[in-house]
Amino acid sequence: MSDPSPKIVVDHVTKIYRTRKRRDTFLGRFLPDLRPTIRELKAVDDVSLEITTGDFVAIIGPSGCGKTTVLRMMDGLIFPDSGEVRVNGTPVLGPRAECGFIFQDFGLYPWRTVIDNVAFGPELRGVPRNVRYELARKHIDLVGLKGFETSFPHQLSGGMQQRVGIARMLSAEPEIMLMDEPFGALDALTRRTMQFELIRILAAEGSATSVFVTHDLDEAILLADKVVIMSARPGRVKEIVNIPFARSERGEALLETSMFAELRHHLWLGVHAEQPL
Ligand SMILES: Nc1ncnc2c1ncn2[C@@H]1O[C@H](COP(=O)(O)OP(=O)(O)OP(=O)(O)O)[C@@H](O)[C@H]1O
Ligand SMILES: [Mg+2]
Repeated sequence: MSDPSPKIVVDHVTKIYRTRKRRDTFLGRFLPDLRPTIRELKAVDDVSLEITTGDFVAIIGPSGCGKTTVLRMMDGLIFPDSGEVRVNGTPVLGPRAECGFIFQDFGLYPWRTVIDNVAFGPELRGVPRNVRYELARKHIDLVGLKGFETSFPHQLSGGMQQRVGIARMLSAEPEIMLMDEPFGALDALTRRTMQFELIRILAAEGSATSVFVTHDLDEAILLADKVVIMSARPGRVKEIVNIPFARSERGEALLETSMFAELRHHLWLGVHAEQPL
């Protein structure tokens, strides 16, 4: 039986960033702290989304439209000014153990070896040493890095470091995987390889719910069940596009189909209309 309750609910969420700015006056120049002004920037405006358990949702939209902001609110790293984010029916009030995060810059600890980076999540949860190393080894194998357990991040290529990031997220066994342009720093070839790797890994790992931010339309179609197009800042949900391909269809051949081309064109029109000139 399918689960009728959504895993993640973003319920009419608005986020305004407030930054202090020195007032550019004669007095302000000499006594800046006495004359602060607050600059308000509405990053996200009345965004609502429902994400079902096991779904893979991609978020696309122009730079600065609030994609990272939405992801960080799901993870409880920042909070909405109005509206609410709920995970498993409970409001998100801080970082949660159910969520794993992959950052664009890999976010690895340079002083830890591959296996110590991957074992970090279970270590935080107090998992005993032998169990967490077993978990770490399993996920290092899964991402194809067997043999590199004792290497340090600087000894690996960008693609390999990103695999360590994926293994680290998986070894924490999160119910929800939040990924912010995880392949953004990779070259085109490595990026395509990593997309297929992620499809394979998700198939092997079962039904985690995934939210994935990307600027790459092909990547969004290849990976996602639904693609959310956001408008330019302040970000709103402009359209949600269903991607009708089965998991088993998501391979190299799919990229050449007319259906894929139609979807790419549709997404391109949606995002292009939002790009500032
Ligand atoms: N900590 C912050 N303080 C102030 N403003 C912020 C902060 N973080 C983000 N912003 C602003 O909020 C807006 C949305 O930022 P966000 O990082 O969510 O965009 P994005 O869609 O992820 O962009 P990109 O595609 O370039 O990564 C931007 O205009 C940004 O300048
Ligand atoms: Mg971003």
